[in-house]
Amino acid sequence: MYKKDFLLNDNIYLLNHSVGRPLKNTEQQFKRHFMDHWQHTSSEPWPQWMTAIDRYNSALGTLFNNDGANFCPQVNLSSALTKLVMSVDRLQQPHTKILMSEADFPSMGFVMQRALASTASITYIPSQLDVTDPNVWAEYLNETIDLVFISHAYSNTGQQAPLNDILSIARQHQVLSIIDVAQSAGIMPLDLSVTRPDFMIGSCVKWLCGGPGSSYLWVNPTQITSCHPQDVGWFSHQQPFEFDIHDFRERNSALKFWGGTPSIMPYVISANSIEYFARLGTETLRQHNQTLLDMLANAFPGQLVSPQQIPQRNGTAILHFGAQQAEVLSALSAHKISVDNRLHGMRISPHIYNDETEIQQLIDVIKSV
Ligand SMILES: Cc1ncc(COP(=O)(O)O)c(C=O)c1O
Repeated sequence: MYKKDFLLNDNIYLLNHSVGRPLKNTEQQFKRHFMDHWQHTSSEPWPQWMTAIDRYNSALGTLFNNDGANFCPQVNLSSALTKLVMSVDRLQQPHTKILMSEADFPSMGFVMQRALASTASITYIPSQLDVTDPNVWAEYLNETIDLVFISHAYSNTGQQAPLNDILSIARQHQVLSIIDVAQSAGIMPLDLSVTRPDFMIGSCVKWLCGGPGSSYLWVNPTQITSCHPQDVGWFSHQQPFEFDIHDFRERNSALKFWGGTPSIMPYVISANSIEYFARLGTETLRQHNQTLLDMLANAFPGQLVSPQQIPQRNGTAILHFGAQQAEVLSALSAHKISVDNRLHGMRISPHIYNDETEIQQLIDVIKSV
């Protein structure tokens, strides 16, 4: 029923942990909110473009049930994390301590290794430990830690972090928290007004189907005065059009992280797709996704590497067929079924535009090998 809204071809596309498929009206939205002004007037397009950014922030606000004013558009998560880490005094001390996991996306570790003082320390929860278990986090999370970095969803293992448990331990020890929602935004419900991390970074390229280039940094209003970005520009200024080189005054909102002249196109495209998914509701998206993952879990219980239990699962199922893995992958490819293969097995990520018939086809192809 939702298939007709998306740009799909005759493949069965299950790579939403990597890049989501665009909505069919993307081009029309791009023309209307980016090109039209250029085509039909000769005045400056910035007012129209700024409206597109407001729309993007407010769509994010709706998706995550929080004020759109607490979001700042960013190019990608790595850059957002660099800006954030460099902006907080507590994170720039010689002995700042960070807790993260070896299962986090490597780029997040690269940023920490560069953006902190060279004498700061990073503890990684070893990849063989179960990051879905709050007790594992409790063992590492204590008052000596300054910041805990939590991936909401781990795409190589199909696991989700017990966000609320970790954040409650962090608050108990007055540890700052940042969550990475790159792999969960648009497929796993998250209510920021309830979950209340200190910071959040995410993008729109995967389950939000907004293409590359539109990411975001969310700052809890309680933290805004403790952030003083180093990477700034005139869009970070309280009065961008003041133009006094001697008077930089950062904004009082998350937009202090904005920087110089922003890009607009990626946010036009993503505002439209975020609104689409927010209208459907993340609970509906999650339920549909989990129903399809259940089909896989039931068909291949012995080959399922990702969690069996729904509360530990994210939107991706991981299957490994041992010595037959390569054969299974080439059979899927021959039948135009798009999955990929990583460290722990093949990743299968069904979205709202996939259906039970497609998953049954995938199951049949694998069983025929
Ligand atoms: C959990 C997670 N974080 C971050 C990223 C990407 O970060 P960036 O936007 O800096 O490329 C990915 C990309 O796959 C990811 O899966």
